[in-house]
Amino acid sequence: MLNIIKVRSRDGGFLYVDGYRVRVFEKISLPPLERRLKAIREAGWNTFLLKSEDVFLDMLTDSGVNAMSDKQLASMISAQDSYAGSKTFYEFVDVVKEVLGFEYVLPVHQGRAAEHILSKVFVSPGSFVVTNYHFTTTRAHIELAGGEMIEIPIPEAKDPLSRHPFKGNIDLGLLEDLLKKYGREKIAFVRIEAVANLLGGQPVSMENIRETKKICEKYNVPLVLDGSMIDWNIYFIKEREHGYGSWPLNKLLKEFVSYADIFYMSARKAPSIRGGFIATNSREYYEKMMIHVPVYEGFLTYGGMSIKEIAALAIGLKEMIDEDLIGSELKLIEHLVEELHRNNIPVVLPPGGLGAHIDALRFLPHVSRDRYPAGSLAGALYLVSGVRAMERGALSSDRTKDGREIYPDLELVRIAFPRRTYLRSHVDYIIDRVLWLYENRDVIKGLKWIYEPPILRFFLGRLEDINRWGDDLAKRYERDLGEL
Ligand code: F0G
Repeated sequence: MLNIIKVRSRDGGFLYVDGYRVRVFEKISLPPLERRLKAIREAGWNTFLLKSEDVFLDMLTDSGVNAMSDKQLASMISAQDSYAGSKTFYEFVDVVKEVLGFEYVLPVHQGRAAEHILSKVFVSPGSFVVTNYHFTTTRAHIELAGGEMIEIPIPEAKDPLSRHPFKGNIDLGLLEDLLKKYGREKIAFVRIEAVANLLGGQPVSMENIRETKKICEKYNVPLVLDGSMIDWNIYFIKEREHGYGSWPLNKLLKEFVSYADIFYMSARKAPSIRGGFIATNSREYYEKMMIHVPVYEGFLTYGGMSIKEIAALAIGLKEMIDEDLIGSELKLIEHLVEELHRNNIPVVLPPGGLGAHIDALRFLPHVSRDRYPAGSLAGALYLVSGVRAMERGALSSDRTKDGREIYPDLELVRIAFPRRTYLRSHVDYIIDRVLWLYENRDVIKGLKWIYEPPILRFFLGRLEDINRWGDDLAKRYERDLGEL
């Protein structure tokens, strides 16, 4: 990864100067408006279905698209490729032990594969998983295993304007009530997502996970930690939580994860490559999960990843605790969020990890929830900018078994920041286009279904713009900002 160099600026503030240089680059171009209109219609107004050659700035996700360090790339060349017993795999296990403090490691091909195995082992029909907040794939696997997720974030999490520093915290009072009521028999596990994705990339405090663990221990329920974005979480603890400012990152990380009985991560995100893994210090849990790895993933020493990816993942884990590390993308996210907020654009505050999150309910108050404001806004943003963002609202929640919509607490459009990929000029372009869109938001009329898949519908679903408002928006754009 990289470091960021913090220096004093002339005006008495600070400057954050990127401590890296770019040696490989990829050419990108802005497709013309006419092509963008055609492309978003062909994609059924679903940004997942856009082809990347039609995209200018790809801010869909940070998953599998982060820039790698020179050391990661180098490690891929010397990785020792074996189906079974690869030396590179055992070196990776040693790094997990050193960095995270877990003895037993199960490799899987990505985060949702870990969720699949966890659900198979721990979740049974009628059981519950209590969590600070769900992630789409987590909920799908738990429900497929017959369980249900109960979400108990703190109340501030549902208020986009609250600047509570740890809006990813779980509500400890409600947690205790639920564990008392249902006990070990009904609660499969408690799950904490460090940097709660669908709450707008908001972190969990050290105090909150420590207290969560105490309650779990009291009722003998395992605590599972989704650490897909753990590096950002510990950064926010260092920055925001009283008493941790001077702690080294490696100590912070170890302390945070030590509260988990089982840790898993999508390694497509923080350590900048592919894959994922589950780790624990419990021999019993390890053995229960282990038997599923060769069935669904691959042999125990590769788990569906290529050995090259495992080598880079091991380096990525070490780079997470590089003492100079501070995700420079967090400073870009902060700049984007604060600039949009200053210009009265409704965004989730405070700036978190992962990306900037626009509150579509307040951006498009005239679009009713059954017309999918966040999906409409993500489509419109692409049309006027070529920026591919992601809907994180009602479309990203599947219907109940009896066909009713689930409207989540937040209806967001996420502009994600792959690590070390985009620059300040890109952010300034996004700000300009979002401000223009806000002034012209009356044109956006919502979406209706053409094809709605029964599960994880946001990936493959297709919609159309009601009364073809896309044409009207394109005309306005042409009038005001027509390309040079
Ligand atoms: N947990 C969290 C918190 C995630 O953010 C993700 C993926 C997963 C689990 C699933 O991992 O994709 O490797 O199977 N998040 C990506 C995103 C897809 O765009 O936010 P996966």
